[in-house]
Amino acid sequence: MNRVCEMLNIQYPVIQGPMAWITSSELVAAVSNAGGLGVLGTSADSTEIVRGIDESVEEMRKAIRNTKALTDKPFGINVFPEAGDPYGFSKAMIALAKEEGVMILVVAGNVSPEEIRQWKRDGFTVIMREANPTIRGAEIAEKAGADIIVATGCDEGGCMPGLSTGTTAITALLADAVNIPVLAAGGIVNEKLSKAAQIVGAEGVFVGTRFILSKECRAADATKKDIMDTHPDDFIVFTQSNGDSKWRTTPHKYGKEGLEANKNGDMNPPSGSFYYGMLKGNPDAGVNTVSNLSGLIRSIDFCDAIVKELGAPFVD
Ligand SMILES: Cc1cc2nc3c(=O)[nH]c(=O)nc-3n(C[C@H](O)[C@H](O)[C@H](O)COP(=O)(O)O)c2cc1C
Repeated sequence: MNRVCEMLNIQYPVIQGPMAWITSSELVAAVSNAGGLGVLGTSADSTEIVRGIDESVEEMRKAIRNTKALTDKPFGINVFPEAGDPYGFSKAMIALAKEEGVMILVVAGNVSPEEIRQWKRDGFTVIMREANPTIRGAEIAEKAGADIIVATGCDEGGCMPGLSTGTTAITALLADAVNIPVLAAGGIVNEKLSKAAQIVGAEGVFVGTRFILSKECRAADATKKDIMDTHPDDFIVFTQSNGDSKWRTTPHKYGKEGLEANKNGDMNPPSGSFYYGMLKGNPDAGVNTVSNLSGLIRSIDFCDAIVKELGAPFVD
């Protein structure tokens, strides 16, 4: 049996990448019910912006319980290591996850061996996704006890690595370096790309963009249309966080201004709001960010069909 399926108790090694605001309980449950692994992102079911830790925790508790009402299958939650969590939001979410029995953490950020060891002592399954993936980082995570490594290439949507290593390269490198399973992330939008990832060593795939263009994703219809209507040549990529990360976006206000700012030496321009942008559908309110391969997605499908398509190369 596929090791990822065995570890996560799922049928297809297709993990839905958490996406702030747009990975709701409905999407997560749909992916898990299809036999993949749904993962709650921050502000999963929230309808308004909340700022305090206590309020955010209670919002996430509701999202967890909503998900449990929609599926009896496993699902995960997105968290961040302490270094990327200056106010303690993620720490509180990890405590909540334990309390609510959500025992799969999808960790995004720099590898922190101490924290990985603690999460393992607490009984979590740890899926580690280093923001700028490195061979050394993957080796350290494996040694600390991480269960699964995500190899994210710069083909991905969202806050992309500042490094310019593509998904095929980073998947092949990490799969060669560690003995635990590696998931390919970045541009896995159809069965062929899933198969390509498998050929270079992935034991599963970690997918965002294809799930944005699903019937169950709560991103605004205008957001989905904007993505579908953007010609692959027209995406804008700009640098943020002084080179640590980049955004790829459909060509609107924040993309145009971000690129201009970069040209003028500002490597940390703003990216706007996912809430007003992707969730509410105003493309000038924030980056509408997706993979460079979104142009290969031809239709907005149900998650059930997406999971089965992307999972096909990994099952007999
Ligand atoms: C709109 C969007 C928002 C994202 N938000 C998050 C997030 O909040 N946390 C996180 O760990 N990753 C986030 N990601 C990254 C995804 O979890 C995943 O790694 C990525 O989408 C995989 O690449 P793909 O979009 O090419 O499939 C986001 C990606 C997108 C497209």
